[in-house]
This record gives sequence, structure tokens and C-alpha cells, in this order.
Amino acid sequence: MSLTSKLVLSLLVSAGSLAADSVGYFDDTSICADSKGLSKCYDKADTSLSSCINNNCAGGGADCYKSCNGDTTCMQSQCPNLGTDCMNACSCVQAVNQIDCIASSCWNQVYSCEYQRTIEDVLNLCALPDMDQFPFWPPPDDAASGCSCNIGKMDKKELLIVDQMTTCTNNMTNLDQMSSVDAVNDYGQACICCAESAILSTIWDTCPNTKPSLLDVDGWYNGFIGQNDWPTCGDYLDAYDCAGDLGFGAKDAGGTTTFYKLGGLPKNGTGTLYNTGSLTTPVSGATFTWTFGTIPHVVTAVSTDHVVAAATATATSTGTQSQTGTSTQTGAASTQTGMAIAKDVPIWTTLASVVLLVSALF
Ligand SMILES: *[C@@H]1O[C@H](CO)[C@@H](O)[C@H](O)[C@H]1NC(C)=O
Ligand SMILES: *[C@@H]1O[C@H](CO)[C@@H](O)[C@H](O)[C@H]1NC(C)=O
Repeated sequence: MSLTSKLVLSLLVSAGSLAADSVGYFDDTSICADSKGLSKCYDKADTSLSSCINNNCAGGGADCYKSCNGDTTCMQSQCPNLGTDCMNACSCVQAVNQIDCIASSCWNQVYSCEYQRTIEDVLNLCALPDMDQFPFWPPPDDAASGCSCNIGKMDKKELLIVDQMTTCTNNMTNLDQMSSVDAVNDYGQACICCAESAILSTIWDTCPNTKPSLLDVDGWYNGFIGQNDWPTCGDYLDAYDCAGDLGFGAKDAGGTTTFYKLGGLPKNGTGTLYNTGSLTTPVSGATFTWTFGTIPHVVTAVSTDHVVAAATATATSTGTQSQTGTSTQTGAASTQTGMAIAKDVPIWTTLASVVLLVSALF
């Protein structure tokens, strides 16, 4: 090795150790038990993504993939032959791999904003995933550390509300009592209005301190609420019992109890998204298995010395944590969370073919 290349190498190494390492949603992987391991694991998931696309998504894949440098947004607009569904299926696998990466190398941050946003990717990209299968999601209310907003709890409620909208529209107990087309149409609109209101309640009430614009409110307005007569919903919300007769109060329908109307939302929170600390022991022990679809994923928590340092700065996993511990802000910062699913609600039903592809890929 020549002197100059040694010099370049050492410069690179020191630059690497000074600059925060950013991977996926993690602006700074140093909050992770094994930050190097996390980067490596994400690299591997990137490589799998490219081979998945090249091998499965037909039509000049390799060249177009290269010209876009692996950027999926670029590929969706520049490489029409690749097929959006196919690329989503490959990106779904990538996001699932990233879940494994975090559970293994960043087990001390499984309740973090970053982990929950990675789960959102899985929800957005994978066809009808079973959300009860995800490990560490949604974070429990009494978790020793987590994100300033329990994004997972909010997302789960939103998905249950969208499901309930369909259930409500098809509820024969209610429909059987209606004798005119007008009554049925009114009832259908009431189901939609209750869902719109319930979504807004969920955003404002699950994370009252967080700025709503960071919680994909705009996505919901643009993709759903703004397209479904929200300004006229006041009358429907007065006339119908959303929580009871229309079912939105049931726990498995999101458990909404307050239904805000246009102009009646509580004050906006002003807070950002940030992590409140770090776990000191792996939640599910050194090794655990979770299942995605029908495929078991075995995950081993990687322990390094770094954890000890991170742990002393924050909280113990068992209970009482000091104020200083909970207020430590790590990672995440001000970027926003969101579920593309909000904009794609009706598209779900067309994704059945992707299920087959995804399961074939595993
Ligand atoms: C509250 O947040 C929403 C969503 O970002 C925004 O449209 C609205 O203008 C905000 N309201 C106030 C009073 O700032
Ligand atoms: C169907 O409607 C009945 C009567 O209004 C209501 O009690 C029930 O909870 C609804 N079922 C579901 C699954 O929402």
C-alpha cells in the first residue's frame, strides 16, 4: 500500500468516526447497541433489494436500477417496466430485513421513533401484513424508553379505523332497518364521516404534544379526509352514534370515544419526534423468533460494550426512571412520520397478486 493511499484511508477512517453514521431512518446509529453491525446489516438488505429487483421485476431492470442508484422513487418514475407492485414487494422484503437488523443490532432502541417508522414501511409496502405479528409493536404504554409519540399505537388505531369503515358500511344489523335508498346512502356517508373524525381524534389524542404535521395529518387530509366531504360531516356526527351503533368505539375498531368535528380539534401540539432513552436489556431475551407471513425470523440481540455506556446515560428497563433519563433526546429529531397507506387505502384490495410474489421471495 502506498503512502498516499494509506493517508487517504486514515482520513476516511477518522472522518467516519467523527461524522454521525446515518442508516435508514437512523440519523445517528451511535444510539444503537452495535452501530457497525446495524450498518452492515442494512447494506446487506440493500444488496438483497437490488438482486430482488433485478431478478424479479422484468424489463431492463439492471440498467435502469443502476441509473437510479437504487433509489426506489427514481425507479418508479424512470423505469416504468420495472412494475411498481414488484418493486414494492422487493422493498417490502428490504423493510422486513431492516426490522431484523434493528431487533438484532439496535435492540436497545426497539421502541424508538426509527424502529416504528421502519414498521410503517412494512405496513405501506407489504400486502396486507398481519400487524399482530410485528415484534415490539406497538410499544407498550409503560415502556422504559421510546419515541416522544407512540407512533405505532397511532398507526395501529388508524388501520383499525379504516377496517371499521368497511365493517360499518356492511353492517346488516343497521342496513336491515333501512327502507329507502336515501337512508342507506346517508348511513354510508355516516360511516365515512365517523372514520374521518376517528382518524383525526387518533392523531390529536394519541400524541397531543407532537406537532400534527409531523404525524402525516396532511397525508390523511390529501388522501382521504379531503376527498370525502369532511366539511359536511358535522350533521352526520350529530345524527349518528359513531362509537356505539356504528361500532367505532369497540377496542378492535380503534376504540375511539371522542369524535371531533370541523373546527373542533384540540390545540396543536408543538413537540418534535425524539427518543426518550435506551433500553438496557433485550425485551425478548438474547434470542427470539417472530413470524412474518409464514416465515419464522430468528433474531439474536448483539451485545457490545457500547450498550453499557448508553445504558448508564438513560434508564433501567425495570421501572422508575429519572427525569434526566427520560428527557435525553436521541436520534430521530424533527423528521416526520407517516403512512403512505393513508393515501392508498383503496389500493390495498388490488395488491393481492403481490402477496404471492412476496411469499415466493422469502
Ligand atoms: C394545526 O395543524 C394542522 C395540521 O398541520 C394545520 O393545518 C393547522 O393550521 C394547525 N392549526 C393551528 C392553529 O396552527
Ligand atoms: C353493527 O351494528 C350494531 C347495531 O347498531 C352495533 O351494535 C354493532 O356494534 C355493529 N357491529 C360492528 C361489528 O361494528
